[in-house]
Amino acid sequence: MAVLPIYLFGQSVLRKKARPVKGVDADLVKFAGDMVETMGKASGIGLAATQVGDLRRVITIDLSAIEETKDQPPTAMINPEILFEEGEFTMEEGCLSLPGLREEVKRPERIRLRYRDINFLEHEIIAEGTLSRVVQHEIDHLDGVLFVDHLSAVKRKLLRGRLNKMVRGEIEADYPVVGPSTADGEHR
Ligand code: NI
Repeated sequence: MAVLPIYLFGQSVLRKKARPVKGVDADLVKFAGDMVETMGKASGIGLAATQVGDLRRVITIDLSAIEETKDQPPTAMINPEILFEEGEFTMEEGCLSLPGLREEVKRPERIRLRYRDINFLEHEIIAEGTLSRVVQHEIDHLDGVLFVDHLSAVKRKLLRGRLNKMVRGEIEADYPVVGPSTADGEHR
C-alpha cells in the first residue's frame, strides 16, 4: 500500500464530478487500500478519491478514533448514494484538503445510504451521528463540493483571507500534499 498526496483547496480536481465505478478489479482494491493508508497517515476520519486526484466514486471511512466505534475497521464505500435524509444537525467539520480549518456545518442528521463494498456487494444502511456526517461530507467531494460551500456568505467572507492563502500554497500540512507548487495537472 502507498500513501498518496492529498490535493489542497484551490486545485481544480476538487471541483470535478466523479464517475460511478462499474466493477471491482485488482486495481480498485489496491487503490482503496492506498486510500485507507493515506487517510491513516493524515489522521483523517474520511477521504474521497477526488482528494487524491482520482475521479472514481470511492470513499473511505475510519471511525476508530471515536469511542463508540473504536472497534470498527476502516471501510471503503463504492458508489455511495443518499436515498433519503431527515432532521438537521450542526457539527464542526474539517477537511484534509483544507488543513487547519474547522467550522460548524449544518446538514441532515439521519440518512439512508446505499453503497457497494470492496466485493461490489450492495448494502443499504441507516446512518446517523458521525458516520452520517462523514459520509455526507465525502459524497460532497465526489460531486465537487467542499464543506466551506455550506457556510453562509458572511462566514465565507470572513474566511476569504485564509482560503486565498491556501490557493497560493501558503499552508502547512504534516502529510504529503499537492498544492500550486507541486500540481502536475494530471488527473485520472
Ligand atoms: Ni473533506
